[in-house]
Amino acid sequence: MEFVGELAVVQQRLAACRDLVARRLAVLEALAVAPGEQVLEAGCGSGLLLREIGAAVGEQGLAIGIDVSPDQLTAARSHCKDMTQVQVRVEDMRAVAAADELFDATVYVQVLEYVPDVETAVAEAARVTKPGGRFVNVATNWGSLWWAGGEAELTARMVSAWHGHAPHPNLPVVLPLLLEHAGFTAVHQRPLTILNRHFHADTFSYWAARLIAAYAIANGGISPDDASRWMDSLTAADEHRCYFFSSVPVLTTATLTAHPTAVGAARIGCP
Ligand SMILES: C[S@@+](CC[C@H](N)C(=O)[O-])C[C@H]1O[C@@H](n2cnc3c(N)ncnc32)[C@H](O)[C@@H]1O
Repeated sequence: MEFVGELAVVQQRLAACRDLVARRLAVLEALAVAPGEQVLEAGCGSGLLLREIGAAVGEQGLAIGIDVSPDQLTAARSHCKDMTQVQVRVEDMRAVAAADELFDATVYVQVLEYVPDVETAVAEAARVTKPGGRFVNVATNWGSLWWAGGEAELTARMVSAWHGHAPHPNLPVVLPLLLEHAGFTAVHQRPLTILNRHFHADTFSYWAARLIAAYAIANGGISPDDASRWMDSLTAADEHRCYFFSSVPVLTTATLTAHPTAVGAARIGCP
């Protein structure tokens, strides 16, 4: 899935909602940035977290945001335009233009699951992180999506179509193993549960539904009419006070203690 054009706009509205403000606070707490540090945010999207990281490193530090979508980076540049310590670059996280062991921390929010060869991206995180440096990730087990109150059959079709939107739709399951293979230790995971009882513009599920509908129309055999019926059914559920949405994004943290001897040895999948 490419976050360009209309999909980038919807993703940016999603990133600004109240649920994701709370998530950014959790990420910042886990990242524990000190003034003067150098931090990489890969897949920085519209730059809302990058701006907070820029404030935390201060003018003596450096916050670099990279993303493959020029549309996302236009928004990121605008959000961070008054910060000289922030750099924004079109770059693939699998080939970061940075020296070995440059960063005190790297952070990835809802992005690693979109990279087919995620092992390469994790190995690259290890390469550019100082020994003792921090890794912070948020990824959702998309299998945890739960919607009630709307038209059940349409909801099931939408959620099923969405399962194909990323090469690793349940990345938190395998991420600890990938990190350990790449040389990270002290891997911890905790849930950042999202629960909405309303379908309105300041909730995660309102924008997630639009993203999912757009994806399902383009790739999942859903007609625009079905998508709009689904959206109407969610609105009606809210009006009747039976709207319910939950999902379980997972915060994963780790520390780099040693560089890998055999990068790429890790492969996704449980025996
Ligand atoms: C779901 S968005 C998340 C954006 C932002 N981190 C947030 O939380 O709002 C995923 C982002 O990852 C970017 N992305 C996907 N693959 C990438 C890659 N290989 N290298 C860098 N960025 C990538 C996309 O362009 C998109 O902006």
